[in-house]
Amino acid sequence: MRIVLVGPPGAGKGTQAAYLAKNLSIPHISTGDLFRANISQGTDLGKRARAFMDAGQLVPDEVTIGMAKDRMAQPDAVGGFLLDGFPRNVGQAEALDAMLRDEGVALDAVLDLEVPEDEVVKRIAGRRICRNDSAHVFHVTYNPPKTEGVCDVCGGELYQRDDDSEETVRTRLEVYHTQTEPIIDYYRTQGLVVTISALGKVTEVTDRAMEALEKSE
Ligand code: AP5
Ligand code: ZN
Repeated sequence: MRIVLVGPPGAGKGTQAAYLAKNLSIPHISTGDLFRANISQGTDLGKRARAFMDAGQLVPDEVTIGMAKDRMAQPDAVGGFLLDGFPRNVGQAEALDAMLRDEGVALDAVLDLEVPEDEVVKRIAGRRICRNDSAHVFHVTYNPPKTEGVCDVCGGELYQRDDDSEETVRTRLEVYHTQTEPIIDYYRTQGLVVTISALGKVTEVTDRAMEALEKSE
């Protein structure tokens, strides 16, 4: 399957993507995680992305689209993928469509995670992620690690993301409403959007998502 996951910052895209990708045997491709890996490795791409991420703004399309395309061209993504955080504006959605068209394939569904803004703010405030792998995500109250400050998966140190400050979160939410939400309408015209509530336990949301994806087939 080829799926796009969309939802505001802190909706639980990364958390759900980890389970959904495993259940569906497709790779989880997160442009946010790819940027963070580039930043921690000190690459040129990471250096270009950093200031935009720290400000809560989108990294320019000419950087992002190429990086996403390279990742989708990897052998493990040939049969399908779960995109998390890409596309994030209509230009990126059009670029993705063109790329898939060239390969003679198409998206199966766009899963839209709906969460009220006050819940998103609580989720981001308590989020802690792993220094070794930003796909290892915890929450101090909702999903605490067994040992405080230590990743359950790999033993790495947990930290708070630089862009999770209150001010930057406000900017990220605004960017979501103005630039990313329009892609939901874009995909609605293609009949691809499945909206679910992302409230409740992580496992409840995963079950809801799996059910919605099965129905959309
Ligand atoms: P990115 O990393 O994509 O961040 P985001 O979209 O803001 O989303 P988040 O990672 O904040 O949240 P999430 O929905 O994954 O939630 P999570 O599962 O962690 O992007 C960061 C930046 O990179 C952007 O601002 C931009 O600069 C740049 N970027 C990335 N992609 C780009 C693109 N395509 N174009 C341009 N720029 C791009 O969950 C949040 C917390 O809630 C966690 O603590 C979790 O444990 C907890 N939680 C999850 N589910 C539940 C639940 N059901 N109940 C209780 N708690 C829960
Ligand atoms: Zn870890």
